[in-house]
Formats: sequence, structure tokens, C-alpha cells
Amino acid sequence: MVNTKSFLLVAFLFIFFDKIVATAVTYNVVNLGAKPDGKTDSTKSFLSAWAAACGSAQPATIFVPPGSYLLGKASFDGGQCKNSAITIRIDGTLLAPSDYSVIGNAGNWLIFEHVNGVSIYGGTLDAQGTGLWACKSSGESCPTGATTLEFSNSNNIMISGLRSINSQMFHVVINSCQNVKVQEVKISASGKSPNTDGIHVQQSSSVTILNSRIATGDDCISIGPGTTNLWIENIACGPGHGISIGSLGKEMQEDGVQNVTVKTVTFMGTENGVRIKTWGRPSNGFVRGVLFQHATMINVQNPVLIDQNYCPGNENCPGQVSGVKISDVAYEDIHGSSATEVAVKFDCSKMHPCSGITLEDVKLTYRNQPAQASCVNAGGTSSGLVQPTSCL
Ligand SMILES: *[C@@H]1O[C@H](CO)[C@@H](O)[C@H](O)[C@H]1NC(C)=O
Repeated sequence: MVNTKSFLLVAFLFIFFDKIVATAVTYNVVNLGAKPDGKTDSTKSFLSAWAAACGSAQPATIFVPPGSYLLGKASFDGGQCKNSAITIRIDGTLLAPSDYSVIGNAGNWLIFEHVNGVSIYGGTLDAQGTGLWACKSSGESCPTGATTLEFSNSNNIMISGLRSINSQMFHVVINSCQNVKVQEVKISASGKSPNTDGIHVQQSSSVTILNSRIATGDDCISIGPGTTNLWIENIACGPGHGISIGSLGKEMQEDGVQNVTVKTVTFMGTENGVRIKTWGRPSNGFVRGVLFQHATMINVQNPVLIDQNYCPGNENCPGQVSGVKISDVAYEDIHGSSATEVAVKFDCSKMHPCSGITLEDVKLTYRNQPAQASCVNAGGTSSGLVQPTSCL
């Protein structure tokens, strides 16, 4: 009886896997001419693999074997794709040109646009950004720099097990997308590298970022206008500028940010912990329905911050106030150490004071003493142990 059952199970599995193997097609970039030598430009082979996978009506895998592949700017467009199940399995490293000017003004290095059902597993993306950072810090005129990996106007995306190092500008951008999962990624760049945000999300809905480690020179995760239903959980951040909603309100007309959860994050030596930042300028944007829960701060300069008076260089905003309405923001179980005396700071708009801010079980210390809190135009409640004493 047991044997018959096992036999049937095994027979079933064979048929099942046979079907998968029979219907999935794999395109190996090396078979299409890519050279894993880190020197030969393999952009064309990657684009051929994309065209083939995209043209196939069956689930397709693009396989990148171990080795290092030099790639210039590459746009993977899905506008004409027949396929909505493309897996890109990367066992190697993709290298940007060592001369930063090659992709430095291209906006992006690797961009996927109008794609549906694309999953990237594994791989290292090395944008070799150090030369550009040096140029920028020398005060010479330099290219802006490229985002390493962007998904734009796309749906049903998975990025899993990817490593991104030394981006010129942002590492990963999710723009105008729906249903995106980013997990087990490792992002690293020097704590001094300019504008190397880890993951930037904007105009997107249902994005989940899980189990990732981000060390960089700007925000670990930045959340731009039009972001809704965002879930961030189990992240290690630092060095970097923390997790930030904003900057918002740079434009007069701007979509709001709604329903964001940031859960179980450790911030190590970062400039900020959990932050909401808006320009001190009129705007019709808003932020509502945000939960920051279970955060550990280790020597963080501004662990809890709402800054509605962002005005870099004091240009185009002095004397103006932010029009962004911030409401229903909850902080639960936020603990650890602040590197400055004021660990909780709510500096809200005079025009639209922050409302519905709640603090529950917050314990932040400065030099082993309770830290301080500061509130301007901020309303809400606190419960449980709250240290520093709430100023709401
Ligand atoms: C808020 O977003 C989460 C995903 O992050 C989603 O599961 C939930 O349904 C959303 N809530 C509302 C009210 O839309």
C-alpha cells in the first residue's frame, strides 16, 4: 500500500516536472555571445536574451552564468512582450563601465519599463561609482550619475537575493509600479557617497521590501509622492540617512503617501531613523496612515523626526510653509540610543499642523539618560512608557 502510494507520488512528480521542463525555455546569455571576462561589452547579448524571452509566449528564464559581464546602459522594454513570466537568474556580476561618464548622464544603467511578471534572482550589480563620487567631492563639474536598477511602469515584479554595490546615484528605483516584492537584497556603498539611496519608491502601490541589509550614503529607503500600500519589514540600515518618507512637497501638485508600514528595522549610526520630510513650500500633498513599529536605534542622530521645513540652501522656500498635511502616524516600540539630545522631533507645518500622531512604548536615551522631545504644530496622544516624555 505504502509502495503503491509512493510510486504514484513519484510518477506524478515526474510528470509534473517534465511538464515544467518541457514548457519553460532558458536563454543563456553566454550562448548568445556574452563574455564572462569583465572586459567585453555584453550589452547586446543581454538585450538579445531579453528579446527572445519577451517574444516567447511560454515562461522563460534568462540565465547569467558565474563570471563578470561588462554592460553599458541597457533598457529592457516590455511594451511588446508576449510573456508575463520571465525569470532572470544571475549567478554572476554585472559590471558598469569603469569610466563613469559612459552611463553618467543616461539616467539609468539597467532599466525595465512596461514589463509584467519579471523576477530577478541573485546576482551582483556593480556600478563602479567611486570615480563619480570622487569627481563630485572635488567640486568639478561631473555627470549626475545613473540609477543602478529601475523598474518603471511595471507590474508583478520580484527582486530576490540581489546585491548592488557602489551605485553612481540611487541603487534601486521602483517608479509607477504595482505589486513589487523586494527581498533578501544587500545594498552597499560608502557612508560618504552622495545620493546613493538604497531603494527609492514612488508613484507605486503594493510594494513590499523584506529581509534586506542596506548600507549607503543617503536614505536606506526613500518614499516619494504617490506611494500607497507599502510594507517594509526586517531591514538593517546603516550607514545611511535612515528610512524617509520624502522629500515631499517640492511641487505644488503632488500625489500623497498613504498606508505605509515600517516594521522591525535596526538603524546603526545613521543620520536619521524614521523620518518624514517635506519642503517648506505650499503643496497639496499629504501623508496619512503610517505605522513605524519595532525599531532599534543604535547611536542615531535623529531617531524620530518629522521635518516640514526642509529648504536646502535656503532657496525658493524661505518664509514659506509646507502645505503637506501629515496625519495618523503611529510610533510603536521604538527604542535605543540617540546620538543627539533631541531624540524625538516633530517640526510640523504652521498651515497644516500634524494630527493624530501616536507614541506607544518609546524609549530613547542620550548618553544613558532619557533624551528630549520637541514639538512644533504637532498634535496627538501617547500611551505606555514614553521616554522622552511626549511633547504632543
Ligand atoms: C495597506 O497596505 C497593506 C500592504 O502594505 C495592505 O495589505 C492593506 O490592505 C492596505 N490597507 C488598506 C486599507 O488599503
